[in-house]
Amino acid sequence: MSAPPAVRKLFVTTALPYANAAFHVGHMMEYIQADIWVRFQRMRGHQVHFVCADDAHGAPIMIAAEKAGITPQAFVAAIAAGRQQYLDGFHISFDNWSSTDAPENHALSKDIYLALRRNELITTRTVEQFFDPVKAMFLPDRYIKGECPKCGAKDQYGDSCEVCGAVYTPTALRNPYSTLTGATPVRKESEHYFFKLSDPRCVEFLSQWTQQGHLQTEVLNKISEWFKTDEDGHGGLADWDISRDAPYFGIEIPDAPGKYFYVWLDAPIGYLASLKNHFDKGGAKALGEPRTFDEFMADPATEQFHFIGKDITYFHTLFWPAMLHFSGRKTPTNVFVHGFITVKDEKMSKSRGTGISPLRYLEIGMNAEWLRYYIAAKLTAKVEDIDFSPEDFVARVNSDLVGKYVNIASRVAGFVHKHFAGQVLPITDSQFAKASIDRLQALAGPNSDLERELTYQYDAFEGLPDPVLMNSLRSWADELASLYEQREFSKAVRAIMDLADLVNKSFDFAKPWELAKTDQLAKLNAVCLATLNGFKLLTIYLSPILPELTAAAARFLNVASQRWVDIDSPIRGGHRISEYKHLMQRVDPAMLEALLAPPAPPALLPGGEAIAPEIAIADFARLDLRIAKIVAAERVEGSTKLLRLSLDIGEAKPRNVFSGIQSAYAPEDLVGRLTVMIANLAPRKMKFGLSEGMVLAASHADEKAQPGLYLLEADAGAAPGLRVR
Ligand code: 2FM
Ligand code: ZN
Repeated sequence: MSAPPAVRKLFVTTALPYANAAFHVGHMMEYIQADIWVRFQRMRGHQVHFVCADDAHGAPIMIAAEKAGITPQAFVAAIAAGRQQYLDGFHISFDNWSSTDAPENHALSKDIYLALRRNELITTRTVEQFFDPVKAMFLPDRYIKGECPKCGAKDQYGDSCEVCGAVYTPTALRNPYSTLTGATPVRKESEHYFFKLSDPRCVEFLSQWTQQGHLQTEVLNKISEWFKTDEDGHGGLADWDISRDAPYFGIEIPDAPGKYFYVWLDAPIGYLASLKNHFDKGGAKALGEPRTFDEFMADPATEQFHFIGKDITYFHTLFWPAMLHFSGRKTPTNVFVHGFITVKDEKMSKSRGTGISPLRYLEIGMNAEWLRYYIAAKLTAKVEDIDFSPEDFVARVNSDLVGKYVNIASRVAGFVHKHFAGQVLPITDSQFAKASIDRLQALAGPNSDLERELTYQYDAFEGLPDPVLMNSLRSWADELASLYEQREFSKAVRAIMDLADLVNKSFDFAKPWELAKTDQLAKLNAVCLATLNGFKLLTIYLSPILPELTAAAARFLNVASQRWVDIDSPIRGGHRISEYKHLMQRVDPAMLEALLAPPAPPALLPGGEAIAPEIAIADFARLDLRIAKIVAAERVEGSTKLLRLSLDIGEAKPRNVFSGIQSAYAPEDLVGRLTVMIANLAPRKMKFGLSEGMVLAASHADEKAQPGLYLLEADAGAAPGLRVR
């Protein structure tokens, strides 16, 4: 037996998800990939700190929070509160979950920035950008729309046209407008902070670091493109704009009032911050690590791994190692890049109702380990996309996982309980071992795949039946360990299923039912013992992928939970197994239909519109509706649609509200009426003045085709200002 490897100290992360949406199946795939690797390392006796966090900052989250009428902190907290059900549901074993808005990240981001500045790798430059004069904020490209400069299509985004496919910069759009306020953006200059990636020291460091075996071949190829400059010296590594102007939800840049770190600066630092948070809370001590976060990270032996998707390679293989190196920190040992997951070969799209909702998967009652197994069966160490195919899913789970592996337990359990009262006996028939060799050789045939497994090593399994079967299974241990280590999960799964085939074949070949019928109990006992041991090895091999199933299998076998070293402590005669309870159901294909069915299109009501998506009572409660008395009403000069209303809701001064009801009401008919208004709507600046709310009226979805506007009216007696709920 080889000596146990020294205990490695591993710091492992997955990409930090933006805190503005629930997880999709792509997140789950990454977490499952990393979790399998982490569980494998733990099984080998290594110390692992597996952490993640919400990526809390940036303009989209700030704007979404504002729309929801809550602070960004409250918004992020609400998203974070929904995370655990997914992580528990799919058995993702993070040791810590934090947020990039946590104090540790504020502190670390400032430290790293200041170190880069001391190293003269920070510079400033004036940048001209679109600015929304109404919101008084610089507009990220995605908040600018306009007419395509090429084909003239309306409402196209600032970077490309969905109609003709043209690609351009936002400044090329005709009649651009801010999607936040509708205002015409103006160009405005401001000072930005840059990380000097083009500095010769950075270029030199990165050209070395990227060649030192930290990266996959495909990633290296991509990076060499990024390094390339053309004949005129264009291209190559460009300085990175790391600042954003207020208003921004982020971390303030030291000595730069009103400037914040761009979200991508502090996001990866969130890896370190979450690890520090884990150490400071005592989480590392609990895992047998006595040192502080700083001591742990200063140790050259500590290894650092990041699992990420291919879309964020640039950030993780250039900016991140450079930031770490030039702030005097450890650089990643490896960045493991994976592809995307498609569903039936289609890229996920929420609007078309494709994709798989992880929560729906669980709600339907689908077993999380089916997905873990399926994903493992498809993942390689390459940067390639994998496809979720329902037929393939059903076949692999039902025929392989259940049909090959789980079945072994149910087949052998019956014999052990019926003929040996649950307790296998010591082997007495030494001839049986010899017979089993001949049998397996016959099964394998000359030059078959099994040939290499048919090595004669009796030492490890002396006294056990069927040493050939045992040695075949055992001889794969190092190969499987290396496949797990290299993230070649699909190869590992294939090899394990071949071994499960071998155990089943060996069982069938011995015809235990006939041994039972003819009272050859010594031989039957030997077959059962061999099969239980086969099942035990398969269980250990599958443990990183299937933590719950293999834990249940270990309970059935009545053996301690699986560590990799347990491959060398076989079950021996005299061992008692537990009662057999069904370990795993097969997939019912109807479940996949339910999982993949597009949500039923909502029925149109007479008003020409379907009922809007369901909301929670808390969503409704955020609308503050009040009884309003119309104290004055007049036409708006220059508008054929609007009336100006003065609404009394019991405040010191009536509200001024512009309402598009001119076609249906004469102003004089409205004065004195009681209606309903939204009183907490953000005031809106219009061409004619500020509108401080909205009155409620009914109309057809297609107002042109079916005109008619019906203002709501309160019953007599309702006092202005009463809340409508
Ligand atoms: O692409 C994303 O979803 C980012 N939130 C990933 C950040 S990874 C790390 F840098 F934090
Ligand atoms: Zn176009």
